Amino acid sequence: MALTIVLKVDPRKIDIEAIDLAASYIRRGRLVAFPTETVYGLGCNALSSDAARRVYEAKGRPPDNPLIVHISDFDMLYLVAREVPEKALKLAKRLWPGPLTLVLPKSDRVPPEVTAGLETVAVRMPAHPVAMALIERAGTPIAAPSANPSGRPSPTKAEHVLRDLSFKADIVIDGGETIYGLESTILNLLGSVPVLLRPGAYPVEVLEELLGEKIHVPEFAKGFGDAPRALAPGMKHRHYAPSTPLVLFECSEYDGPHSPCLEKLVNAILAFLKDVSGRPCIVASEETAKAYRDVGARVLVIGSRANLYEVAKRLFEVLRKLDEIGCDVALMEGYPDRGLGLAIMNRARKASVRRVVVS
Ligand code: TXA
Ligand code: MG
Repeated sequence: MALTIVLKVDPRKIDIEAIDLAASYIRRGRLVAFPTETVYGLGCNALSSDAARRVYEAKGRPPDNPLIVHISDFDMLYLVAREVPEKALKLAKRLWPGPLTLVLPKSDRVPPEVTAGLETVAVRMPAHPVAMALIERAGTPIAAPSANPSGRPSPTKAEHVLRDLSFKADIVIDGGETIYGLESTILNLLGSVPVLLRPGAYPVEVLEELLGEKIHVPEFAKGFGDAPRALAPGMKHRHYAPSTPLVLFECSEYDGPHSPCLEKLVNAILAFLKDVSGRPCIVASEETAKAYRDVGARVLVIGSRANLYEVAKRLFEVLRKLDEIGCDVALMEGYPDRGLGLAIMNRARKASVRRVVVS
Protein backbone atom coordinates (compact mmCIF):
# COMPACT_ATOMS: atom_id res chain seq x y z
CA MET A 1 0.00 0.00 0.00
CA ALA A 2 1.26 3.46 -0.84
CA LEU A 3 1.76 5.87 2.01
CA THR A 4 1.46 9.62 2.11
CA ILE A 5 3.99 11.58 4.16
CA VAL A 6 2.45 14.62 5.84
CA LEU A 7 4.86 17.48 6.55
CA LYS A 8 3.62 20.35 8.70
CA VAL A 9 5.31 23.59 7.67
CA ASP A 10 4.57 26.98 9.21
CA PRO A 11 4.53 29.54 6.36
CA ARG A 12 5.94 32.16 8.75
CA LYS A 13 8.86 29.97 9.79
CA ILE A 14 9.82 27.66 6.94
CA ASP A 15 11.29 24.30 7.95
CA ILE A 16 13.86 24.00 5.20
CA GLU A 17 14.61 20.33 5.91
CA ALA A 18 10.99 19.43 5.32
CA ILE A 19 10.94 21.52 2.14
CA ASP A 20 14.15 19.84 0.95
CA LEU A 21 12.63 16.40 1.44
CA ALA A 22 9.58 17.41 -0.61
CA ALA A 23 11.81 19.08 -3.22
CA SER A 24 13.78 15.84 -3.63
CA TYR A 25 10.50 14.01 -4.27
CA ILE A 26 9.62 16.56 -6.96
CA ARG A 27 13.01 16.10 -8.61
CA ARG A 28 12.46 12.33 -8.61
CA GLY A 29 9.14 12.70 -10.44
CA ARG A 30 6.90 12.09 -7.40
CA LEU A 31 3.76 14.03 -6.40
CA VAL A 32 3.77 16.67 -3.67
CA ALA A 33 0.62 18.52 -2.60
CA PHE A 34 1.42 22.00 -1.30
CA PRO A 35 -0.34 25.20 -0.28
CA THR A 36 -0.42 28.27 -2.49
CA GLU A 37 -2.11 31.59 -1.74
CA THR A 38 -5.14 30.41 -3.78
CA VAL A 39 -5.81 26.67 -3.20
CA TYR A 40 -3.68 23.58 -2.58
CA GLY A 41 -1.93 22.25 -5.68
CA LEU A 42 -0.88 18.70 -6.57
CA GLY A 43 2.64 19.37 -7.80
CA CYS A 44 5.12 17.53 -9.99
CA ASN A 45 8.26 18.35 -11.96
CA ALA A 46 6.94 20.43 -14.88
CA LEU A 47 9.75 19.18 -17.14
CA SER A 48 8.86 15.49 -16.76
CA SER A 49 6.28 13.68 -18.90
CA ASP A 50 6.07 10.74 -16.49
CA ALA A 51 5.48 12.97 -13.48
CA ALA A 52 2.75 14.88 -15.32
CA ARG A 53 1.05 11.61 -16.29
CA ARG A 54 0.94 10.66 -12.61
CA VAL A 55 -0.85 13.90 -11.79
CA TYR A 56 -3.58 13.22 -14.38
CA GLU A 57 -4.00 9.71 -13.03
CA ALA A 58 -4.18 10.83 -9.39
CA LYS A 59 -6.87 13.41 -10.14
CA GLY A 60 -8.79 11.36 -12.69
CA ARG A 61 -8.24 14.40 -14.90
CA PRO A 62 -9.21 14.26 -18.59
CA PRO A 63 -6.00 14.35 -20.68
CA ASP A 64 -7.22 17.42 -22.62
CA ASN A 65 -7.05 19.69 -19.56
CA PRO A 66 -3.60 21.34 -19.32
CA LEU A 67 -1.75 22.09 -16.07
CA ILE A 68 -0.50 25.41 -14.69
CA VAL A 69 3.29 25.69 -14.34
CA HIS A 70 4.49 27.36 -11.13
CA ILE A 71 7.78 29.24 -11.10
CA SER A 72 9.79 31.01 -8.41
CA ASP A 73 11.79 33.49 -10.52
CA PHE A 74 11.97 35.05 -13.96
CA ASP A 75 14.75 32.71 -15.17
CA MET A 76 12.24 29.88 -14.83
CA LEU A 77 9.76 31.94 -16.83
CA TYR A 78 12.14 31.95 -19.79
CA LEU A 79 12.81 28.25 -19.30
CA VAL A 80 9.15 27.36 -19.84
CA ALA A 81 8.02 30.18 -22.19
CA ARG A 82 9.47 30.60 -25.67
CA GLU A 83 8.71 34.30 -25.57
CA VAL A 84 6.97 36.72 -23.27
CA PRO A 85 5.09 39.60 -24.93
CA GLU A 86 5.90 42.97 -23.39
CA LYS A 87 2.37 43.45 -22.09
CA ALA A 88 2.52 40.12 -20.26
CA LEU A 89 5.95 40.83 -18.83
CA LYS A 90 4.85 44.23 -17.55
CA LEU A 91 1.86 42.71 -15.78
CA ALA A 92 3.90 39.82 -14.39
CA LYS A 93 6.49 42.23 -13.01
CA ARG A 94 3.75 44.20 -11.27
CA LEU A 95 1.71 41.31 -9.90
CA TRP A 96 4.02 38.33 -9.36
CA PRO A 97 4.27 36.63 -7.03
CA GLY A 98 0.48 36.60 -6.99
CA PRO A 99 -2.70 34.85 -8.17
CA LEU A 100 -2.35 35.68 -11.87
CA THR A 101 -1.76 32.97 -14.51
CA LEU A 102 -0.59 34.02 -17.97
CA VAL A 103 -0.93 31.91 -21.11
CA LEU A 104 2.31 32.11 -23.12
CA PRO A 105 3.95 30.35 -26.09
CA LYS A 106 5.59 27.24 -24.63
CA SER A 107 9.26 26.34 -24.87
CA ASP A 108 10.45 22.90 -25.99
CA ARG A 109 11.47 22.11 -22.43
CA VAL A 110 7.83 21.68 -21.37
CA PRO A 111 6.56 18.23 -22.35
CA PRO A 112 3.22 17.96 -24.19
CA GLU A 113 1.68 16.08 -21.25
CA VAL A 114 1.82 19.28 -19.17
CA THR A 115 0.10 21.45 -21.77
CA ALA A 116 -2.25 18.73 -23.10
CA GLY A 117 -0.53 19.02 -26.47
CA LEU A 118 -1.01 22.80 -26.80
CA GLU A 119 1.65 25.15 -28.09
CA THR A 120 0.97 27.46 -25.14
CA VAL A 121 1.76 27.06 -21.45
CA ALA A 122 -0.04 28.63 -18.47
CA VAL A 123 2.43 30.09 -15.95
CA ARG A 124 2.25 31.71 -12.56
CA MET A 125 4.47 32.66 -9.61
CA PRO A 126 2.58 31.86 -6.40
CA ALA A 127 2.59 34.32 -3.48
CA HIS A 128 3.01 31.73 -0.77
CA PRO A 129 6.26 31.18 1.13
CA VAL A 130 5.85 27.38 1.18
CA ALA A 131 5.14 27.15 -2.56
CA MET A 132 8.01 29.51 -3.40
CA ALA A 133 10.47 27.64 -1.16
CA LEU A 134 9.43 24.29 -2.67
CA ILE A 135 9.97 25.47 -6.26
CA GLU A 136 13.26 27.18 -5.39
CA ARG A 137 14.67 24.15 -3.57
CA ALA A 138 13.43 21.74 -6.25
CA GLY A 139 15.26 23.90 -8.76
CA THR A 140 12.63 23.13 -11.37
CA PRO A 141 9.27 24.61 -12.32
CA ILE A 142 6.37 22.71 -10.75
CA ALA A 143 3.22 21.84 -12.68
CA ALA A 144 0.25 21.77 -10.34
CA PRO A 145 -3.49 21.57 -10.81
CA SER A 146 -5.71 22.09 -7.78
CA ALA A 147 -5.32 19.05 -5.51
CA ASN A 148 -8.88 17.73 -5.79
CA PRO A 149 -10.39 14.85 -7.74
CA SER A 150 -11.42 16.22 -11.15
CA GLY A 151 -14.74 18.09 -11.04
CA ARG A 152 -14.93 18.46 -7.24
CA PRO A 153 -14.50 21.54 -5.01
CA SER A 154 -10.87 22.69 -4.68
CA PRO A 155 -8.94 22.17 -1.41
CA THR A 156 -8.19 25.13 0.85
CA LYS A 157 -6.76 23.03 3.71
CA ALA A 158 -4.36 20.08 3.83
CA GLU A 159 -7.07 17.94 5.42
CA HIS A 160 -9.18 18.38 2.26
CA VAL A 161 -6.31 16.98 0.18
CA LEU A 162 -5.82 14.08 2.56
CA ARG A 163 -9.51 13.25 2.51
CA ASP A 164 -9.89 13.53 -1.28
CA LEU A 165 -6.56 12.29 -2.62
CA SER A 166 -5.18 10.21 0.24
CA PHE A 167 -2.35 7.92 -0.84
CA LYS A 168 -2.27 9.47 -4.29
CA ALA A 169 0.16 12.22 -3.28
CA ASP A 170 3.54 10.98 -2.03
CA ILE A 171 3.84 14.01 0.25
CA VAL A 172 1.27 16.51 1.51
CA ILE A 173 2.76 19.71 2.92
CA ASP A 174 0.34 21.10 5.50
CA GLY A 175 0.91 24.84 5.54
CA GLY A 176 -2.48 25.72 7.02
CA GLU A 177 -5.39 27.39 5.31
CA THR A 178 -4.83 29.09 1.93
CA ILE A 179 -5.25 32.86 1.71
CA TYR A 180 -7.74 33.61 -1.08
CA GLY A 181 -9.58 30.28 -1.10
CA LEU A 182 -10.19 30.33 -4.84
CA GLU A 183 -7.92 29.92 -7.84
CA SER A 184 -5.78 32.33 -9.79
CA THR A 185 -7.12 34.57 -12.54
CA ILE A 186 -6.14 33.18 -15.97
CA LEU A 187 -5.47 35.71 -18.69
CA ASN A 188 -4.55 35.30 -22.35
CA LEU A 189 -2.66 38.32 -23.68
CA LEU A 190 -1.53 36.71 -26.92
CA GLY A 191 -4.27 38.08 -29.17
CA SER A 192 -5.23 41.62 -30.11
CA VAL A 193 -7.61 41.85 -27.13
CA PRO A 194 -6.84 40.52 -23.62
CA VAL A 195 -9.16 37.60 -22.84
CA LEU A 196 -10.15 36.36 -19.40
CA LEU A 197 -10.09 32.55 -19.35
CA ARG A 198 -10.96 32.14 -15.68
CA PRO A 199 -11.87 34.82 -13.16
CA GLY A 200 -9.95 34.39 -9.93
CA ALA A 201 -8.37 36.03 -6.95
CA TYR A 202 -7.20 39.13 -8.87
CA PRO A 203 -10.36 40.92 -10.03
CA VAL A 204 -10.64 41.82 -13.72
CA GLU A 205 -11.17 45.50 -12.85
CA VAL A 206 -7.74 45.63 -11.16
CA LEU A 207 -6.06 43.99 -14.15
CA GLU A 208 -7.80 46.35 -16.61
CA GLU A 209 -6.54 49.31 -14.67
CA LEU A 210 -2.96 48.03 -14.74
CA LEU A 211 -3.15 47.05 -18.42
CA GLY A 212 -4.83 50.30 -19.39
CA GLU A 213 -7.28 48.41 -21.61
CA LYS A 214 -10.51 46.43 -21.47
CA ILE A 215 -10.39 42.67 -20.94
CA HIS A 216 -12.86 40.57 -22.90
CA VAL A 217 -14.92 38.39 -20.55
CA PRO A 218 -16.46 35.49 -22.53
CA GLU A 219 -19.66 33.84 -21.32
CA PHE A 220 -17.77 30.69 -20.26
CA ALA A 221 -15.61 32.82 -17.90
CA LYS A 222 -18.80 33.91 -16.16
CA GLY A 223 -19.60 30.24 -15.64
CA PHE A 224 -21.98 29.70 -18.56
CA GLY A 225 -21.37 26.76 -20.91
CA ASP A 226 -18.17 25.02 -21.99
CA ALA A 227 -15.23 27.00 -23.34
CA PRO A 228 -14.09 26.53 -26.94
CA ARG A 229 -11.25 24.00 -26.90
CA ALA A 230 -8.84 26.21 -28.84
CA LEU A 231 -9.04 29.01 -26.28
CA ALA A 232 -9.44 27.29 -22.93
CA PRO A 233 -9.25 23.50 -23.15
CA GLY A 234 -10.68 21.45 -20.35
CA MET A 235 -12.71 24.36 -18.96
CA LYS A 236 -15.92 22.32 -18.71
CA HIS A 237 -19.16 23.76 -17.51
CA ARG A 238 -19.71 21.34 -14.63
CA HIS A 239 -16.95 21.67 -12.04
CA TYR A 240 -16.33 22.40 -8.35
CA ALA A 241 -19.49 20.40 -7.67
CA PRO A 242 -20.51 18.97 -4.30
CA SER A 243 -22.51 15.71 -4.32
CA THR A 244 -25.44 17.65 -2.87
CA PRO A 245 -27.49 19.16 -5.72
CA LEU A 246 -27.02 22.92 -5.56
CA VAL A 247 -29.67 25.36 -6.77
CA LEU A 248 -28.34 28.87 -7.31
CA PHE A 249 -30.59 31.91 -6.92
CA GLU A 250 -29.46 35.08 -8.65
CA CYS A 251 -30.70 38.59 -9.16
CA SER A 252 -30.75 39.82 -12.76
CA GLU A 253 -29.24 43.01 -11.30
CA TYR A 254 -28.01 43.98 -7.90
CA ASP A 255 -27.64 47.50 -6.66
CA GLY A 256 -25.89 47.51 -3.34
CA PRO A 257 -26.26 45.40 -0.22
CA HIS A 258 -29.84 46.57 0.37
CA SER A 259 -31.11 46.23 -3.19
CA PRO A 260 -34.82 45.49 -3.55
CA CYS A 261 -33.92 42.47 -5.68
CA LEU A 262 -32.12 40.85 -2.78
CA GLU A 263 -35.39 40.76 -0.88
CA LYS A 264 -37.07 39.08 -3.86
CA LEU A 265 -34.21 36.60 -4.04
CA VAL A 266 -34.73 35.66 -0.39
CA ASN A 267 -38.46 35.29 -1.02
CA ALA A 268 -37.78 33.06 -4.03
CA ILE A 269 -35.65 30.80 -1.82
CA LEU A 270 -38.38 30.70 0.85
CA ALA A 271 -41.00 29.83 -1.80
CA PHE A 272 -38.76 27.12 -3.32
CA LEU A 273 -38.29 25.58 0.14
CA LYS A 274 -42.00 24.76 0.35
CA ASP A 275 -41.64 22.22 -2.47
CA VAL A 276 -38.41 20.66 -1.26
CA SER A 277 -38.56 17.18 0.21
CA GLY A 278 -35.74 15.88 2.40
CA ARG A 279 -33.27 18.02 4.25
CA PRO A 280 -32.68 21.47 2.75
CA CYS A 281 -29.64 23.63 3.45
CA ILE A 282 -29.29 27.31 2.62
CA VAL A 283 -26.03 29.07 1.83
CA ALA A 284 -26.79 32.59 3.01
CA SER A 285 -24.95 35.85 3.57
CA GLU A 286 -24.67 37.57 6.92
CA GLU A 287 -27.11 40.22 5.73
CA THR A 288 -29.88 37.76 4.79
CA ALA A 289 -29.39 34.82 7.18
CA LYS A 290 -32.02 35.90 9.67
CA ALA A 291 -34.75 35.63 7.01
CA TYR A 292 -34.31 31.86 7.04
CA ARG A 293 -34.79 31.41 10.76
CA ASP A 294 -37.56 28.98 11.68
CA VAL A 295 -38.10 27.62 8.17
CA GLY A 296 -36.73 24.17 8.95
CA ALA A 297 -33.54 24.48 6.90
CA ARG A 298 -29.94 24.34 8.01
CA VAL A 299 -28.39 27.74 7.30
CA LEU A 300 -24.71 28.09 6.44
CA VAL A 301 -23.48 31.68 6.59
CA ILE A 302 -20.72 32.14 4.04
CA GLY A 303 -19.74 35.75 4.76
CA SER A 304 -20.79 39.34 4.35
CA ARG A 305 -21.99 40.89 1.08
CA ALA A 306 -19.88 43.88 2.05
CA ASN A 307 -16.71 41.73 2.05
CA LEU A 308 -16.62 39.34 -0.89
CA TYR A 309 -13.08 38.32 0.04
CA GLU A 310 -14.67 36.48 2.98
CA VAL A 311 -17.26 34.80 0.75
CA ALA A 312 -14.57 33.73 -1.76
CA LYS A 313 -12.38 32.35 0.99
CA ARG A 314 -15.14 30.19 2.46
CA LEU A 315 -16.82 29.09 -0.76
CA PHE A 316 -15.15 25.71 -1.35
CA GLU A 317 -15.26 24.84 2.33
CA VAL A 318 -18.99 25.54 2.45
CA LEU A 319 -19.57 23.42 -0.69
CA ARG A 320 -17.74 20.54 1.01
CA LYS A 321 -19.72 21.06 4.19
CA LEU A 322 -23.02 20.52 2.34
CA ASP A 323 -21.97 16.92 1.72
CA GLU A 324 -20.52 16.44 5.20
CA ILE A 325 -23.66 17.48 7.04
CA GLY A 326 -25.89 15.45 4.73
CA CYS A 327 -28.01 18.08 3.00
CA ASP A 328 -30.42 16.61 0.42
CA VAL A 329 -30.54 19.87 -1.52
CA ALA A 330 -28.75 23.18 -1.13
CA LEU A 331 -30.10 26.60 -2.05
CA MET A 332 -27.46 29.26 -2.49
CA GLU A 333 -27.72 33.02 -2.88
CA GLY A 334 -25.83 34.71 -5.72
CA TYR A 335 -23.56 37.76 -5.70
CA PRO A 336 -22.95 40.55 -8.21
CA ASP A 337 -20.57 39.71 -11.09
CA ARG A 338 -18.19 42.46 -9.99
CA GLY A 339 -14.77 42.29 -8.35
CA LEU A 340 -14.30 38.96 -6.59
CA GLY A 341 -18.00 38.35 -7.22
CA LEU A 342 -17.23 37.26 -10.79
CA ALA A 343 -14.90 34.49 -9.57
CA ILE A 344 -17.40 33.45 -6.89
CA MET A 345 -20.23 33.26 -9.43
CA ASN A 346 -18.10 31.38 -11.99
CA ARG A 347 -17.50 28.66 -9.36
CA ALA A 348 -21.07 28.71 -8.03
CA ARG A 349 -22.65 28.44 -11.51
CA LYS A 350 -20.37 25.57 -12.47
CA ALA A 351 -21.13 23.82 -9.17
CA SER A 352 -24.91 24.17 -9.52
CA VAL A 353 -27.43 21.84 -11.12
CA ARG A 354 -29.98 24.59 -11.63
CA ARG A 355 -30.15 28.37 -11.69
CA VAL A 356 -33.11 30.55 -10.76
CA VAL A 357 -32.92 34.20 -11.84
CA VAL A 358 -35.05 36.75 -10.01
CA SER A 359 -35.71 40.22 -11.39
O1 TXA B 1 -4.71 29.07 -8.36
C1 TXA B 1 -4.45 28.22 -9.21
O2 TXA B 1 -4.30 28.52 -10.41
C2 TXA B 1 -4.30 26.77 -8.75
C3 TXA B 1 -3.07 26.68 -7.84
C4 TXA B 1 -2.74 25.27 -7.45
O3 TXA B 1 -2.00 27.32 -8.46
N1 TXA B 1 -4.23 25.87 -9.86
C5 TXA B 1 -5.30 25.57 -10.63
O4 TXA B 1 -5.06 24.59 -11.58
O5 TXA B 1 -6.37 26.09 -10.50
P1 TXA B 1 -6.26 23.80 -12.31
O6 TXA B 1 -5.62 22.68 -13.00
O7 TXA B 1 -7.31 23.47 -11.35
O8 TXA B 1 -6.77 24.79 -13.40
C6 TXA B 1 -5.91 25.13 -14.46
C7 TXA B 1 -6.67 25.59 -15.67
C8 TXA B 1 -7.08 24.44 -16.58
O9 TXA B 1 -8.37 23.98 -16.30
C9 TXA B 1 -7.01 25.03 -17.96
O10 TXA B 1 -8.29 25.37 -18.39
C10 TXA B 1 -6.16 26.28 -17.80
O11 TXA B 1 -5.76 26.35 -16.47
N2 TXA B 1 -4.98 26.20 -18.65
C11 TXA B 1 -3.82 25.56 -18.41
N3 TXA B 1 -2.98 25.67 -19.45
C12 TXA B 1 -3.62 26.41 -20.38
C13 TXA B 1 -3.28 26.88 -21.68
N4 TXA B 1 -2.11 26.61 -22.23
N5 TXA B 1 -4.20 27.60 -22.35
C14 TXA B 1 -5.39 27.90 -21.79
N6 TXA B 1 -5.77 27.48 -20.57
C15 TXA B 1 -4.90 26.74 -19.87
MG1 MG C 1 -8.98 22.87 -10.49
